[in-house]
Amino acid sequence: MNLTDEEKRMLDGEYGETVGKCMKILVALGEIYGAEKMIEIHNVHSPGVSYRVAGDAGLNYVKEASEQACFKVLTTLNTIGIDSENWEKVGFPSEFSKKQLELSAAYLKMGAIATNTCTPYLAGNIPLAGEHVAWGESSAIAFVNSVIGARTNREGGPSALAAAVTGRVPAYGYHLTENRRGKYLIRVETDLESDRDYAVLGYYAGQIAGKEVPVFEGIKKRPSLENLKALSAAVASSGAVALYHIIGVTPEAPTTETVIGKVETFKFGPEEYRQVTDKFNYRGEVDFVVFGCPHTSIQEIRKIAALLDGKKVKSDVWVCTSRQVKHLADKMGYTNVIAKAGVEIICDTCPVLCPTLVDRGYRNLLTNSGKLAHYAPGLWNVQTGLIEMEDCIKAALQGRWEG
Ligand code: F3S
Repeated sequence: MNLTDEEKRMLDGEYGETVGKCMKILVALGEIYGAEKMIEIHNVHSPGVSYRVAGDAGLNYVKEASEQACFKVLTTLNTIGIDSENWEKVGFPSEFSKKQLELSAAYLKMGAIATNTCTPYLAGNIPLAGEHVAWGESSAIAFVNSVIGARTNREGGPSALAAAVTGRVPAYGYHLTENRRGKYLIRVETDLESDRDYAVLGYYAGQIAGKEVPVFEGIKKRPSLENLKALSAAVASSGAVALYHIIGVTPEAPTTETVIGKVETFKFGPEEYRQVTDKFNYRGEVDFVVFGCPHTSIQEIRKIAALLDGKKVKSDVWVCTSRQVKHLADKMGYTNVIAKAGVEIICDTCPVLCPTLVDRGYRNLLTNSGKLAHYAPGLWNVQTGLIEMEDCIKAALQGRWEG
């Protein structure tokens, strides 16, 4: 790789052992993927910050790095394994929680911002279109590449940390314009309204596209931020999609011609919609309902509060969000309404990254998230229903879902 003098100095350890090690990781990655040079990045969103994922090996690695290095660019943190302020109340195990707090502290020591969320774009990390960044967390990667039009590969914990310490990533993959063209064209032939509709579309498209770039054509009504958040999460879980385009909506796709490479065409109509929803069609008694995968926006919390106002749920319900959004919800009085209905607002974490759900013995789960519906059966051996937010609330109030 062609390195600048500054990058060579980093590699040679002139800025300390940790910077040297980080540069070695990035050079090795660049050589594997045929990068010719490094690119300066604007910011990092770091995954691998849940102790559930990092374990002791990750904790020791990050603690050691934090003794010598600090982050060179804005670095936000992904979802962690506990609600950092309420872990005892929620019932997270003490040993796990202490290790999580140690891991978070090591990141903060290096200068990370404690966003603890998979929606950093709702918490102040919003790059501009065309900027190079280094993000982890599949749903956030798909969102930042596609909706914002910034450029990232799929970073893991060690590569994101290396990028944060050096301010560089190797120039390959989605950093290069030629790799951002669509490979699968999906003609949308049904009306899409809700987040669940977009989750279903994303789920369908992810199965087709795998790790390639799908392009959606024919979406009539302009999607909301929440719709696109749901689409980004689902398309990155049934497949490994890191970038998609929506003609006339996302910034790199003003017309089909601008983003289409060599293409295969599919349709998404009522039949394809049903194929996905038939897969997640649990009916019966309801143990657990989850909103906020990815973490809820203030708009979603407002809607949940309105649907729950003056009522009481029979099932366990979690609303997962960032502490920033929860703060707003507190101010607006939504938290109170939701708590009175018997629903927990959980910050910083989510069912997938926290340690306790297996112990709770849930047999089923309802959600409006395509990502959670996809992962829950494998993680906790539960049956899942992928239904509208309104129906999730109805089911939680009755303790049953009959469809
Ligand atoms: Fe976020 Fe956890 Fe879902 S990190 S996208 S809420 S699995």
